[in-house]
Amino acid sequence: MYILALNGSHNKDGNTAFLLNEVMKYLKEKGAECETVSVYDAIMDAKTPFCVSCQSPCMKACYKDSMLDELFDKVERADFALIGSPVYFGSMSAQLKAFFDKTRVPRANKSWLGKPVAALSVGASKYGGQERTIDHIHSACLVSGMTIFGNGSELGMGHFGVSAQKPADKDENAIVQCKSLANVIIKHLWNE
Ligand SMILES: Cc1cc2nc3c(=O)[nH]c(=O)nc-3n(C[C@H](O)[C@H](O)[C@H](O)COP(=O)(O)O)c2cc1C
Repeated sequence: MYILALNGSHNKDGNTAFLLNEVMKYLKEKGAECETVSVYDAIMDAKTPFCVSCQSPCMKACYKDSMLDELFDKVERADFALIGSPVYFGSMSAQLKAFFDKTRVPRANKSWLGKPVAALSVGASKYGGQERTIDHIHSACLVSGMTIFGNGSELGMGHFGVSAQKPADKDENAIVQCKSLANVIIKHLWNE
């Protein structure tokens, strides 16, 4: 199994990365190949990090053969995609939104249709917009027809994904949520 984690924070060892790793720790124990990719690095490798709608339909003019192009292929190859973002002004980070704005080609090709995905979010405030951020990530995923996973009936997990308060490694509830999300993914992928 190949699990791909998209880190929507530029911090490679920040709070979002901690939570993604916390979920993947259990998937690694199952023998899964787990990879984390920095969305920031990928969009900055394109000629312009933001979609400027230069062509319609998109012909990958700004990112052909870049890290972003590779990342889109990785999402297609993944058995499960985890998407994490810090809360920035009550929503996902601009870099993660820029990533989604670049996904017109995989969307048009239906490359990610039905792709299993789950989201997590971390903010500085306890109620700083984590669930709204997860909601916004879900909306962007739905535009490409991805299949969203929430907590199911797992106890102790946020209903829509993992919501955490910084510092995430001290948020005991969030750490339990990560384990619950891992269990949902294991149930889906390994049928256990
Ligand atoms: C531009 C900006 C906006 C932010 N907006 C919010 C916010 O609306 N709510 C919140 O709880 N935290 C907010 N934060 C705090 C971040 O969500 C928090 O520092 C997060 O843990 C960073 O994750 P990281 O360590 O993975 O980068 C904001 C931080 C920045 C830089």
